[in-house]
Amino acid sequence: MPSPEFSLRRRDFLAAGAAAFAPALALAQGRRIRLAQVGTGGRGVYWGRSLLQNYNDTVQIVGLCDINAKRVEVAKELIGSGAPTFVDFDRMVEETKPDLVLVTTVDSAHYTYIIRAMELGHDVLTEKPLCTDERQCQMILDAERKYGRRLIVAFNARHYPQAKKIKQLLMEKAIGDVISVDYQEYLDTSHGASYFRRWHRIKEHSGTLLVSKSCHHFDQVNWWLDSPPVEVVGYGDLRFYGRNNPFRSTHCRVCPYKQRCQFYTDVTRNETSMKLYVGCEGEDGYQIDGCVWRLDVNIQDTYAVMVKHENGARLSYTANTFMPYEGQEIALNGTKGRIDFNMYDGGGHRDHEVRLTRNFGKSEVIRDFETRSGGHGGADPSLHDLIFRNPGAPDPLGLRAGSLAGAYSSLVGIAGYRSIERGGERVRIRDLVKL
Ligand SMILES: NC(=O)c1ccc[n+]([C@@H]2O[C@H](COP(=O)([O-])OP(=O)(O)OC[C@H]3O[C@@H](n4cnc5c(N)ncnc54)[C@H](O)[C@@H]3O)[C@@H](O)[C@H]2O)c1
Repeated sequence: MPSPEFSLRRRDFLAAGAAAFAPALALAQGRRIRLAQVGTGGRGVYWGRSLLQNYNDTVQIVGLCDINAKRVEVAKELIGSGAPTFVDFDRMVEETKPDLVLVTTVDSAHYTYIIRAMELGHDVLTEKPLCTDERQCQMILDAERKYGRRLIVAFNARHYPQAKKIKQLLMEKAIGDVISVDYQEYLDTSHGASYFRRWHRIKEHSGTLLVSKSCHHFDQVNWWLDSPPVEVVGYGDLRFYGRNNPFRSTHCRVCPYKQRCQFYTDVTRNETSMKLYVGCEGEDGYQIDGCVWRLDVNIQDTYAVMVKHENGARLSYTANTFMPYEGQEIALNGTKGRIDFNMYDGGGHRDHEVRLTRNFGKSEVIRDFETRSGGHGGADPSLHDLIFRNPGAPDPLGLRAGSLAGAYSSLVGIAGYRSIERGGERVRIRDLVKL
């Protein structure tokens, strides 16, 4: 049984979503959704472009804001938008009067804009994670209650065709009740390393990869199980990147070890990165090609986390960021069978499969997925449709994620890194935040 609190809050969100959600109201009034965006780096540009190209009939970008005055100008050009640009968020909101504020800044700044936007009377759509520590989480939940605005968390990982299929099978009770989940995440020496080049390597910006990256996976599990997490135990180490190399530099462009470092990357060959980051370095000093061996790395690169859910199910989760290929191995173990999802990509190893095996029955590969083009295997356009084309449409799989889903997914990661800090101590979610 899902917890009453969990279901009630979700029902609240769904019920109110269609009527009071300002973007839905705008569409009902026959006008486009006025969207103001803060954070115009890589993901921000991706959002802007996608909205302009695919939702120009329902969305109008009315303002772009970033703390980096140069980057916001470059982003405007890359998006191809005619919207005014700002470095002052309050001014943008005041002048553009948006129906929706889209937050795509670095993770640790999300809460600032979520709260301020709601305080100024606006609904918010934020990139994941909702927050990077328990204090931010409490402040967001309190602000939502106080200002009565709607908050959506953009969990595109719910929208992968395989993730939706798993949800559907679970709702049909294809494997009975889920007793445990095994979830293994493999990030390779390109994707995994990218987090150690960028701001994610600093815990104060990302809340470690347990928050910045794994919040997707914790959210999937919370959603699949339809039961909130209650307790977390975590272990994590920095065993590969950071200090674990005899030589290092500040960033690749100036590195004297270019010839011998397997992680050397030449950002000058990427025109977009040169414009969006290198050309804007003068404003904030941020280097997109940071050395993966820098001594300031204060996150871990290998994680093992156990999570107990309210319904008694438990999750065993691992993430490793230095693998020879990308991949996931996920298993949901139920009273009547098991669902496996395995995906590998890299080093000539390319495969993916969802398998349903009922107890005492035959194992079958599930093939009836919807297929869709677009970012993250079609997950991004599926998410965008739900918000910008059909904001009031029925949502039988519960794909819409509000503040509580955002909070629980971040809190598993936060509890995980608190547990790591405390030498593997058990951390209870209810001791972190009053939900
Ligand atoms: N859902 C997904 O699949 C997905 C994919 C990539 C990134 N993301 C998320 O999107 C967000 C942005 O990531 P990114 O890859 O674009 O990073 P990025 O570094 O390219 O961009 C971040 C931007 O935020 C700006 N910024 C930093 N602090 C700010 C502040 N206090 N106020 C205003 N702007 C500020 C930076 O100047 C930069 O332009 C992150 O939260 C990340 O976790 C989600």
